[in-house]
Amino acid sequence: MTVTGLPRNDVRQYDVLAGQWWLADGQFAMLHWLARARAALIPPATRPDAVLVDLGCGGGLLAPHVAGKGYRHVGLDLAESALRVAAPHGLAPVRADVARIPLADESADAVSAGEILEHVRDLSTVVAEACRILRPGGVLVLDTLARTAVARFVAVTVGERIPGGAPPGIHDPALFVDRRRLVAEAARHGVPLRLRGIRPSTVGMARWLAGRRDRPVRMIPTWSTAVIFQGRGVKQ
Ligand SMILES: C[S@@+](CC[C@H](N)C(=O)[O-])C[C@H]1O[C@@H](n2cnc3c(N)ncnc32)[C@H](O)[C@@H]1O
Repeated sequence: MTVTGLPRNDVRQYDVLAGQWWLADGQFAMLHWLARARAALIPPATRPDAVLVDLGCGGGLLAPHVAGKGYRHVGLDLAESALRVAAPHGLAPVRADVARIPLADESADAVSAGEILEHVRDLSTVVAEACRILRPGGVLVLDTLARTAVARFVAVTVGERIPGGAPPGIHDPALFVDRRRLVAEAARHGVPLRLRGIRPSTVGMARWLAGRRDRPVRMIPTWSTAVIFQGRGVKQ
């Protein structure tokens, strides 16, 4: 059963959940924690007019974390409702499918793919598109869920039952990402990716689950990429 009554991974769920994006202790709480960790991988812009393209930007949670880095922040999403929420946070909103990005080749200095790859049906096309719009020397950063039994257990079986974990039905574990395939696809398009696992800090998560939700939970590196992982690579 999904929280919205819609099928798993149906993008219309984001319309139903549109009021949740900026609630720090709401249904998308963990996306706030992940946005902070993702932004830490995005270097400051190295030239005027640098562009950061945020694939599947949702409500724009990345915006405050990259605001001082010198980019024009362009957010792409299929959900109009999410773009409406995102726009006041300083992104230029573009309604588009990440499998068909309406931007020129090598037009982005940085591309962020935060919690989007596990939602797409054609991983190869989306990775190719992300790499296509990146200029040589530009950086691709991403975080997503691994295609493993443990990720399915943590993100769906458990995650959908704990506050801040994930809205029930938002994920279809059949779309979770094969790490080897992801790395191979990015390399094929000129972006050698390095992956690392991340997880919520134990103390932070314990506080959170105990109902002390006054501050975000820190996401920290971990040895295993089998659940949530980040990727970073520079286009050759
Ligand atoms: C889990 S949310 C992540 C949002 C944001 N990146 C973040 O981390 O806060 C996934 C977002 O991707 C969008 N999305 C899903 N499939 C998409 C597609 N094919 N093209 C563009 N956006 C898509 C959804 O509308 C939603 O806003």
